[in-house]
Amino acid sequence: MSFSFTGSHILSADQFDLSALTKLFQLAQRMETIANGEVTCNVLQGNILGSCFFEESTRTRWSSEAAFIRLGGSAISMTDPKFSSMFKKKETFEDTIRVLSCYVDAIVIRHPEEGKAAIAAQHSNVPIINGGDGKKEHPTQALLDMFTIQQELGRLNNFAIAMAGDLARGRTVHSLMKLLSLYSDIQFNLIASDSWQMPDELVSQVQGKGHHVIQTDDFAAGIENADIAYMVRPQNERSNGQDSDAPGDNFCLDAKTARKCKKLTAIMHPLPRNEEIPPEVDQLKEAAYFRQAKQVPLKLNFACPLHPRVHPRGFFF
Ligand code: CP
Repeated sequence: MSFSFTGSHILSADQFDLSALTKLFQLAQRMETIANGEVTCNVLQGNILGSCFFEESTRTRWSSEAAFIRLGGSAISMTDPKFSSMFKKKETFEDTIRVLSCYVDAIVIRHPEEGKAAIAAQHSNVPIINGGDGKKEHPTQALLDMFTIQQELGRLNNFAIAMAGDLARGRTVHSLMKLLSLYSDIQFNLIASDSWQMPDELVSQVQGKGHHVIQTDDFAAGIENADIAYMVRPQNERSNGQDSDAPGDNFCLDAKTARKCKKLTAIMHPLPRNEEIPPEVDQLKEAAYFRQAKQVPLKLNFACPLHPRVHPRGFFF
């Protein structure tokens, strides 16, 4: 049975099927003018989003709240859990979620522990949206990444993607592997040293769906024939003394390397970035990592805010 978004928790990329993704991306495309503030929409009027972040975030919290507000709803935040009753008063996570879910209509949650969003879902009266749980998953980022690939490349089948960096602890690539596996004929070049390689179960999952996987620590060779380059920073905040904490290679996709990749159509990064993409790359037309936050069409990419045809908020005059 096809996945239904109505009233559903969003906990893992495993929940989605091809039909759900197709419908979601069609709807997302139609909502571009709402996202850009060009058209107002009140479909969520009277509804409140609660954002419950037990770990730092810039994009996920703001984009979730902005989306809810753009659709006519309101948003309230718990940005520093130290000021909730969980800590000094020792209220449990489960009780906290149970109570918070009485006040709002949906909760977006981020937590440093794997599986915590699923636990929240068991105790919530309202849909839980997983905005990242430990090194396990980040399904909302992966949905955006899929939409971005479709926008930039024009297709979600039959292409090569190079993922490079800390693939062991980078949760966005874990969810992205799962969503990409639903499509056909994708070449995965997983570029990382042994200690930072993609977890075996995710490699098996995409291989099991008939995709071709190369695992290498040779950055130049892995990236050379990619249509999409997806860079991941070292996830040092998730260091816990296990094998995957061993230092890996800090690969860098500089402008010179990018120009050598003849098929390269989009350079992606979930952000924040460290040294794996230097600022010089921001000027390349392939740099999609800021563009995807706004979904500004590629034709506007060359326009700085003062470009005569482009309004500072990204519209044609
Ligand atoms: N991409 C992403 O999850 O960014 P934040 O950590 O800033 O939310």
